[in-house]
Amino acid sequence: MTAAPLHVVTGAFGYSGRYIAAELLARGARVRTLTNSLHRDNPFGDKIEVHPIDFNDRDALVESMRGAYAFHNTYWVRYNHKKGSTDFGYDEAVKNNRILFECAVDAGVRRFVHLSVANASEDSTWGYFRGKALLEKELEASGLSYSIVRPTVIYGGPENVLINNIAWMLRHLPVFGVFGKGDARLTPIHVEDLARICADAADRDSNEVINAVGPDTFTYREMVEQMARAMGVRRLIVPTPDWLALAAGKVLSFFLKDIVITGHEISGLRNESMYTGTEPLGTTSFSEWLESEKDTLGRRFVNDLSRRR
Ligand SMILES: NC(=O)c1ccc[n+]([C@@H]2O[C@H](COP(=O)([O-])OP(=O)(O)OC[C@H]3O[C@@H](n4cnc5c(N)ncnc54)[C@H](OP(=O)(O)O)[C@@H]3O)[C@@H](O)[C@H]2O)c1
Repeated sequence: MTAAPLHVVTGAFGYSGRYIAAELLARGARVRTLTNSLHRDNPFGDKIEVHPIDFNDRDALVESMRGAYAFHNTYWVRYNHKKGSTDFGYDEAVKNNRILFECAVDAGVRRFVHLSVANASEDSTWGYFRGKALLEKELEASGLSYSIVRPTVIYGGPENVLINNIAWMLRHLPVFGVFGKGDARLTPIHVEDLARICADAADRDSNEVINAVGPDTFTYREMVEQMARAMGVRRLIVPTPDWLALAAGKVLSFFLKDIVITGHEISGLRNESMYTGTEPLGTTSFSEWLESEKDTLGRRFVNDLSRRR
């Protein structure tokens, strides 16, 4: 009997890595995760192998990838944060991704599935999108067989931050401000669809860059209105200039001890960075998902920063 193929996934106790690992296990794969979140809950028990991810120990990284059928790379940081015990940023994330590419080459990884972001661009003023574009170019030149998967905003599951916390604010605040006029479009992707896209990409051989987008397109305002309706809350939804949205975000961040939103995230959403207009690879309908989650969605605030403390 031949052994099940080994897939190495970063961050299986985090968000998308958790769903990619679950999808791979359901397909009969052997799964190993590389993570620094050993303290977080492990929903897989001994069904997956757990290795720490230490960017200063290349030999250990190469060994943890050796013989892998595929490496699924979710590793990235959401913003620059230079404070106390939680010190991280885009420059370091770019350097660490580069180390992962090099170690994957040395370990002879068969296929590299790399999560980037929709509309990554080297011309962007946002370090997130610039860093992602730079890494796409480096991966393309690395000699690895690759699939670059570019998600728009990801939703679904109790670990989700953005959509869950919008729901939390709708439940708890009397007024909700949409960025600008709220007319920027989004095409969100369900996290289980994303996991399926990554698992499928691992089995292909040719190099590719694919947008991971769902079947629904709506404006930010339409999405928020749809969420409020589904949850049965009536809220005043008002257009908000960026400076006011950022100021309100800072006040909330102070009380919630988190970073609720950044200036770049506001302008990114307003400039349709989470919209592609390309063929949807996801099949989950946002409205059907909303209907099934309307009673639980946004009941709890998901504190992103506390996960890194
Ligand atoms: N979430 C979205 O809506 C969205 C949208 C577009 C693109 N993406 C891309 O999809 C990928 C996965 O995103 P995700 O939201 O699923 O991420 P995530 O699970 O929160 O984190 C993914 C990985 O990055 C590591 N990581 C995250 N923040 C870190 C920090 N501050 N310091 C050190 N390590 C950190 C995690 O390490 P641990 O294993 O130690 O937790 C994990 O291995 C990323 O490349 C992201 O850019 C996400």
